[in-house]
Amino acid sequence: MKNIIVVGVGRMGSVHAENLYKGRVKGARLAGIQDVSAEALKRFTAKYPVPAFTDLNECVEETKPDGAVIATPHYSHVPIAASLLERGIAVLTEKPEAAEIKEALRLNETAAAHPDALFGIMYNQRTSPVYMKAKELVSSGALGKLKRVSMTITDWYRSQNYYDMGGWRASWSGEGGGVMINQCVHQLDILQWLVGTPLSIEAHADTAGRNITVENEMYCYMEYPDGLKGTFTASAHELKGTNVLEISGDKGKIVAGKYSMKFYSFEPSECEVNRTAKKGYGSAKVRKKRYFYGLKRLIADAIYGQQLNVLRAFAAALNGTGELVAAGEEGARALEFINAAYISAYTGEKVTFPVDPDRYSRTLSEFKEKEKEGGKVFVR
Ligand SMILES: NC(=O)c1ccc[n+]([C@@H]2O[C@H](COP(=O)([O-])OP(=O)(O)OC[C@H]3O[C@@H](n4cnc5c(N)ncnc54)[C@H](O)[C@@H]3O)[C@@H](O)[C@H]2O)c1
Repeated sequence: MKNIIVVGVGRMGSVHAENLYKGRVKGARLAGIQDVSAEALKRFTAKYPVPAFTDLNECVEETKPDGAVIATPHYSHVPIAASLLERGIAVLTEKPEAAEIKEALRLNETAAAHPDALFGIMYNQRTSPVYMKAKELVSSGALGKLKRVSMTITDWYRSQNYYDMGGWRASWSGEGGGVMINQCVHQLDILQWLVGTPLSIEAHADTAGRNITVENEMYCYMEYPDGLKGTFTASAHELKGTNVLEISGDKGKIVAGKYSMKFYSFEPSECEVNRTAKKGYGSAKVRKKRYFYGLKRLIADAIYGQQLNVLRAFAAALNGTGELVAAGEEGARALEFINAAYISAYTGEKVTFPVDPDRYSRTLSEFKEKEKEGGKVFVR
């Protein structure tokens, strides 16, 4: 049985802690909780009596944890994770790995220097049966050479009330961005997991209809190796938002929503249709297959949170009986995309990968300066 502590027991951390406390994670138990807010600790211990600490060192000394789940605001992920990994304690950090690529790379170096301590990240959408099937199809080559990827995520609706709720939310100084870094980091991880890192990105951002300094809308155009092109659209102020991923290839195409996916396979491939066409048009035999999230999983995820799957995998990896859902180091990829989009939207430039970490650090400092003066960064 592995001893796990939860660092930060706010909205998300208290869900992780409850799942551990209630024995929903095989091979792991909640050894204690830590939060800088005594009130947050009290809220949790009033329901679930566990050792609670405002000081992280004291928590570690008293509970001697094998692993820790970090669910604090973004800027604190790196210092907390690094200090735990350096002590040989396994870490499962909430997303994003950091607020800027430079910090994520620094944490990755720390993790590499402590290979005996597991390092994972809470990319729970990788456990979606729909995205898992998409990964299988793309990796197996079932779509052939990829031509186009498009992801539209406009179903993270957030009202002004949401932004007014939490001190650290929706600010450059508190979380390092808006809809891209807070909500869409999940889908951007899925995007890079499926089709890799782009060569370049051109982006436009806006802060529409909300009194915040960060973006709640982003439009990106990406170019990838081998001629693949793509778009990523995000918005947090649309009612009846959309959540669709399309990947189109020479031999097939997938259209994935949140809970189901259509897979079309072409016989022959588009290349072959084009080579043999005797008219201005062409067609192939198209076979369609549908894949679903699955009712049982849907209900379980709705009740306990999709995050429980990642927590269970973390415990299994700690016990040597399974694997992490996502290695912590992979957190840098979606983050690099986000940082590149911010630079491009701010400067109007096409930004190429790898992103210069120092350049983004300077850009982020400028964003924070603008914020201090009360201005929005992206004004259209
Ligand atoms: N995986 C998901 O689907 C998902 C969903 C929601 C939030 N999150 C992530 O979880 C994290 C927390 O979000 P939240 O909504 O629970 O925020 P929250 O504000 O509700 O909770 C954060 C908690 O961390 C505590 N805290 C702040 N600084 C700390 C520090 N240095 N050490 C210890 N405790 C500290 C605060 O007192 C608070 O109790 C964020 O990274 C967020 O992006 C992930």
